[in-house]
Order: sequence, then structure tokens, then C-alpha cells
Amino acid sequence: MRYRNSWEDAVVSKMKKVADNVMQIQITPVGSTEVFTVGSHLDISVLINDLPEIRSYSLVGRYSPNSPYTIAVKRLPASRGGSKYMWGLKEGSKLRISQPTNHFELSFNTPDYLLIAGGIGITPILGMAEELMAQNDKNVRMLYLGRSEKEMPYINLSKKLLGQNLIVHFSDVDGFFDTSKIIDLSNTETQIYLCGPIGLMNAIRKTWENSPFANQNLRYETFGASGLFAPQAFTVKIPRFNKELKVKENQTMLKALEEAQIAVMYDCKKGECGLCQVDILEVSGDVDHRDFFFSEAEKGENKKMCACVSRIANGDVVIDTAYRGT
Ligand code: FES
Repeated sequence: MRYRNSWEDAVVSKMKKVADNVMQIQITPVGSTEVFTVGSHLDISVLINDLPEIRSYSLVGRYSPNSPYTIAVKRLPASRGGSKYMWGLKEGSKLRISQPTNHFELSFNTPDYLLIAGGIGITPILGMAEELMAQNDKNVRMLYLGRSEKEMPYINLSKKLLGQNLIVHFSDVDGFFDTSKIIDLSNTETQIYLCGPIGLMNAIRKTWENSPFANQNLRYETFGASGLFAPQAFTVKIPRFNKELKVKENQTMLKALEEAQIAVMYDCKKGECGLCQVDILEVSGDVDHRDFFFSEAEKGENKKMCACVSRIANGDVVIDTAYRGT
């Protein structure tokens, strides 16, 4: 139930560690590299438990003719398997990739920009910084947050590019980040472009929603949302089909439903489009909402969840997939 156009063969041309647990991977398509705008991503076909899956990775930097595509992948111990697969590649490995697609477009219609990257969230943000710094009429600041310098890819490049306009927050040294600083750094003309872990993004979204500034001036990209709880196995009951399934620790609810031949529509598999939402009829424990589709208020109601990314922690759930039949 997923549609993607235009896939092509490609080869891993170079792999290089760019921070602790972050691998930069350069990918050369068998055809030619397509022109892309900053904020674009590639879909890559990966094998997880020997089964094909699709993972999306932001393209790092700006388009350059005759250069390979560059992505960077953080090795995540709690990943669903995508980062493990990507780290297992070698120079010369073959891949299937999509053409670049952009759901995180940079707009040039304001004079003031605040770019915010948390850890591996730097990947789409770096190209935006390069693009904006190349314009002469934009005021650009970038806030880069991470645990420590050695865990932050492209930190030296960011320093060189932005100079005094780079604000760095090391949580190892500086502690918890106070999101009200975002408001201090903004004005009515500021557009924010944000990419980072879900906790940081939710906190910034909440602060921004309560600020005097326009909601549409905060734009963000997800990159495979991590949750508030470590992934755990849980049981999902679907009374409509008289079924009870176990969702494994390293499996999504969407995957478990598919394996049980319960059809659920989906597209992004990143918690963005909302197509895979299911109704929650009963829940014990915590709903670990990992999506960016529902508002914070809707998440608080626990009436729906996105099956592609959200999970249950410390309990089980009863759901309905509504009109979608087996
Ligand atoms: S498939 Fe898009 S939110 Fe789940």
C-alpha cells in the first residue's frame, strides 16, 4: 500500500566516520546524480531480518554536479534495523535508491533564520546553512545541540561556515537546554528549521506554540523518530478481526499488522503523514507517541496512534483499524 516512483541502482562509493557512531556514506547512482534542493532525502531499500524495507536519509550539503549523494547514519542500538544495515555496507556495496525528494523545503521569503539541529539532525540543516550563508541578505543563526563535540557530526564544518553565528550546546557540560532561548533568539520575521530527536523537537514545538510567533514559521523534519521509552514487546488486540498479536521489541505495530494480514494504509513510515493511524480502544501502560502528525493535545488524549512508529511501553493496547478490512 505504498507508492514510490522511480528507483535506481547505486553503489556505495565511500564510507567515513564523521563522529562517534555516525558514518558518512557517499552513494553514486548508476545513472547520473539528480539535481536536488537542500532539505531533500533519499529513500533507500534496506534488508531487515532478510526482508526488504525502506528507510529515508537526509542528503547532506548542497547539490554539486558530478558529486555523489552524501548521507550520514547514526548507529542506534535501539533501531529497527536500518542503521545496522547501513553500517554493514562497504565501499562497492550495491543499493537501490529513490530519486531525491523534498518534504522539508527551505523558503527564501524572509530575512531572518534560526536553524536548529540536535545531533544527527544536522544532516538536512547543514545544506540549509550553506545555502543561506551564500545569500548576502539573510540573517542566519544556527543552534547545534549534542551531548559532546565528538558525538556531533560536521561540528567543525559548522564552526567554519557560521563563525560567531553558531551557538553550540553540549548537554554533557551545559546540562538541560532551556527552550525559551529559542524565543529570545526569534522575532516576527524568524523562520525556524528544526531537526533532532523527538524529545527536543516536541519541547521546541510546545514552546513555539505558546509563543507570540506564527506556528507556520516553525518547520521541522523527522528522521526516524526515537521515543520516550526504550522499545519493548507488547500485545495488540483487534476485536474487529478477533485477533491478538505480539509486537516484538524490534518490530513496528504496522509490521505486525501486515504480517497478520490486517491491511493498514501507510506512506511515510516516519510518523509524518498520519495515514497509518489506528483508533485506540483501550490501553494499559504508556502510549509512546513517536509521530509528528498528531498535535501534543491529541497525543495527550490517547485516542489514536500512528502504527508505523508509535509503541506501547509497560502495557498492552486494544485497537481498531476502522473501515480497513483484511
Ligand atoms: S505511514 Fe506516515 S505516519 Fe505512519
